[in-house]
Amino acid sequence: MSLPETARQRARVLHEELHEHNYRYYVLDAPVITDAEYDRLLRELQQLEAAYPELVTPDSPTQRVGAAPLKAFGQVRHEVRMLSLDNAFDDDELADFDRRVCTRLGTDIVEYAAEPKLDGVAVSLLYEDGVLIRGATRGDGETGEDITQNVRTIDSVPLRLTGDNIPRLLEVRGEVYISHRGFEQLNRQAIAQEQKPFVNPRNAAAGSLRQLDPKITAARPLEIYCYGVGRVDGELPDRHSKILDQLGKWRLRVYAGIKRVRGLAGCIDYYSSLEQQRGELPFDIDGVVFKVDRLEQQEQLGFVSRAPRWAIARKFPAEEMQTRVTGIDVQVGRTGALTPVARLEPVFVGGVTVTNATLHNVDEVHRKDVRKGDMVIIRRAGDVIPEVVRALKEQRRKGARRFRLPTVCPECRSTVERVEGEAVARCTGGLYCPAQRREAIKHFASRRAMDIDGLGDRLVDQLVETGLIRDVSDLFQLTVEQLAGLERMAEKSATNLVNALEHSKHTTLERFVYALGIREVGEATARILAQEFGDLEPLMQANLDTLQEIHDIGPVVAQHITGFFAEPHNREVIQKLCQAGVRWEPVATVSHTPLKDKTFVLTGTLTMPRNVLKDKLQAAGAKVTGSVSRKTDYVVVGENPGSKADKAKELGIELLDEAGCMRLLESGKN
Ligand code: IVH
Repeated sequence: MSLPETARQRARVLHEELHEHNYRYYVLDAPVITDAEYDRLLRELQQLEAAYPELVTPDSPTQRVGAAPLKAFGQVRHEVRMLSLDNAFDDDELADFDRRVCTRLGTDIVEYAAEPKLDGVAVSLLYEDGVLIRGATRGDGETGEDITQNVRTIDSVPLRLTGDNIPRLLEVRGEVYISHRGFEQLNRQAIAQEQKPFVNPRNAAAGSLRQLDPKITAARPLEIYCYGVGRVDGELPDRHSKILDQLGKWRLRVYAGIKRVRGLAGCIDYYSSLEQQRGELPFDIDGVVFKVDRLEQQEQLGFVSRAPRWAIARKFPAEEMQTRVTGIDVQVGRTGALTPVARLEPVFVGGVTVTNATLHNVDEVHRKDVRKGDMVIIRRAGDVIPEVVRALKEQRRKGARRFRLPTVCPECRSTVERVEGEAVARCTGGLYCPAQRREAIKHFASRRAMDIDGLGDRLVDQLVETGLIRDVSDLFQLTVEQLAGLERMAEKSATNLVNALEHSKHTTLERFVYALGIREVGEATARILAQEFGDLEPLMQANLDTLQEIHDIGPVVAQHITGFFAEPHNREVIQKLCQAGVRWEPVATVSHTPLKDKTFVLTGTLTMPRNVLKDKLQAAGAKVTGSVSRKTDYVVVGENPGSKADKAKELGIELLDEAGCMRLLESGKN
């Protein structure tokens, strides 16, 4: 049937009306028609689209839940890295942050945007020409999971932006959460259907977003508040607070109580008032986020590792509860470190039931003098592992014995060693110790390392216990038959795991180096090593001197690295991994490029997002700063450059356009 113009026009009117009512209901919380009227309009559009399928567009209000269930989530690379936040746990730490910001900016007072820190799940929404084309989880900050079909079901996420000057490409960042009311409803339903209730709204939100069937997600009361942007190809205001206003104008949902405050005093006032309102808010928050408002100042401050220098989360005090210690066990970690753990009578604290709490190390147990049978105060904040704050000694039972660290490893009976001056005692069993092997394998499989989906802690425990694997290289020899025979595994989950193992083989050098679990080589160090050496072989050959020449690598870390690669067992495991097909692209090294230690300043409007160019330059070893001085080597000039370009000319500093800068970057690679 050919499409009559009247049908096209009617569909357009219905689109507009439905988008408008959706916005009024879910974003503004101020509907102007009844639910029945809304349903009537939606049904009319559905009927029209059924008669004329060419009317169906991805942004049609009928298309929130259309997609079929997925087999697995795809991976997406964020256009701009999703950073996390540093924390301040009291006013002094907040004052330190403000002082650092002021010093770096060379100013007395800074304006901040103050926002609630929502306790939900971070997502990124990508709009192309105003149409939602992708939704993703944060993942490791660089790549996340493609949850487009799930975010589409969230009514407060606009499928299409409305308004003027919408950027061609806009990456919006926000927090998906479930309100208290939604959570109660959800759990009432779960109990009525004899299902296990959710522990807290955040877990419920995270679980809902990770459903492969979008119909399940659609039935969960998810909401969103947007708090920032990633990549933007288009114009945006020059202040964070104004960007949020602009997002609101395009009909994205932004929390109305976000304020601009001045200096530390303004931050403290906002924090106090939000802390007082906390109980009445319809959703969970775990603190307040302060962000330097002017983008120019944000750029000047930059970021370290995974968090920006221009923002901080001032966390609310952690929740504390009282319970009894039923025993003190000793856990053996990946590097053999022994951690005393208090086993507890279950207690509900900070939104979850806690049965264990860390006591960190033996000195800590003695300092706090915690004993089996004691009543103790437990503290839990956000995602942090619960800890024992103190023992209530006045209630102690007679005969309670002081804790003694075992002299042999509880797992493998090897001698326990404690290096002079170190708080940590270690099992000397190395990879002979099943606990160290288990933990090394868990680390290898973890999300930020090899990211082996479906290889959870319990499964690793089983694999090591049953002798199916001894080290990480055995993982890649596992077969579906072997796996399907294990507890809680079936043919399907076994096949999925074998596929996930296969998928994980294609990795990056930095992930692989991190996955090896070399002592004190975290993600940041692994990245530096990957960039410096470009491939594994030269890193394995490196001696102490070469390693210590690298900025940020001290003698202790260098020793751990050479020690690790000198160990024949480790070399053998690496060889077996490579034979099994684990691979990565060689990295362009930065060690001897002309950009190492060169200082760049970017000014004017560039065609690529500023953060992207900055990342590229930094990855090539360059420093990128906010202001031009005699120390600046190059100034990259975009359109409508400001005074920085003039100053550079005055000082005789080399100016580059964007293409010139890219050429320099390319020529720097080897
Ligand atoms: S900004 C550049 N603002 O907190 C900083 N994050 O630890 C990126 N969060 O992953 C985050 N409310 O999930 C920002 N108003 C807010 C937030 C917020 C909650 C979460 C977010 C992020 C985590 C950072």
